[in-house]
Amino acid sequence: MPRDADGHLVPGRISARRDVPIGIPRPEYVGKAEPAAYDGDDRYSPLELERIRRASRIAAQAVEAMGAAVRPGITTDDLDAIGHDYLVAHDAYPSELGYRGYPKSTCTSVNEVICHGIPDDTELFDGDIVKIDITAYVEGMHGDLCAAFPVGEVSQDAALLIDRTHEAMMRGIRAIAPGRQVNVIGRAIESYAKRFGYGVVREYTGHGVGTAFHSGLVIPHYDAAPGYDAPIEPGMVFTVEPMLTIDGSTAWDIWDDDWTVVTRSRALTAQWEHTIVVTERGAEILTRP
Ligand code: MF3
Ligand code: CO
Ligand code: CO
Repeated sequence: MPRDADGHLVPGRISARRDVPIGIPRPEYVGKAEPAAYDGDDRYSPLELERIRRASRIAAQAVEAMGAAVRPGITTDDLDAIGHDYLVAHDAYPSELGYRGYPKSTCTSVNEVICHGIPDDTELFDGDIVKIDITAYVEGMHGDLCAAFPVGEVSQDAALLIDRTHEAMMRGIRAIAPGRQVNVIGRAIESYAKRFGYGVVREYTGHGVGTAFHSGLVIPHYDAAPGYDAPIEPGMVFTVEPMLTIDGSTAWDIWDDDWTVVTRSRALTAQWEHTIVVTERGAEILTRP
């Protein structure tokens, strides 16, 4: 039951790798140290968008299935099994499994874990929060989302962090419009987060997604102007996935597993993520169940 004396997370035991039926196509990077460089476009045709939409919907349904199982006493590995089984039952490959050697099918990031928490035998406790991040690979396309869930009864501060992080993501998404620069997204997110004294993690960002899991297009969640001035164009697909800290801090550490990112202050942190497509007027969210 991994927690230290202060109640902070410590690494648990990671279960054996889950199988994916051989009939489900794998992304090219599985079994390799890193993905191939992507030199394709971040804009997609309507037919390609249909495929991204299918991947995104299955990913969202898998998050919903895991979220419905969140309760005190369940382990993050139990949750991973639910997400994994949902994906493979719907002919989707869990994009995170084998991505740069990542050992599990989902990310389950508890409390001070900012992102990339590896599912293990950590039991969820009443009052925790858990962020569940799933990416599905379907018909050659990835769809990627994250949602934050309260475990049992959480403090009002924790509940507000969850809700305001969701609102921050939505404000970032609502700032999207063709002709604007990519940096408008982070400006909207950061200005909202600052009202509450929350910190915005800078080194983990949104990204182009579709044919590639991470296309190379970077979407900051802070106000990066005059940098990140790439124009937003219709048909572009990318994620918006802010990570906010409750204490305003932005420093982080990585565990020896080389994945788990935690706030250096060990303060609570929340994340939400959607995959969106840029339309003629704004953005449409693809990662809906
Ligand atoms: N889904 C995460 C993202 O939003 C990436 C997780 S990669 C993993 O970009 F290897 F940690 F799973
Ligand atoms: Co993402
Ligand atoms: Co994600």
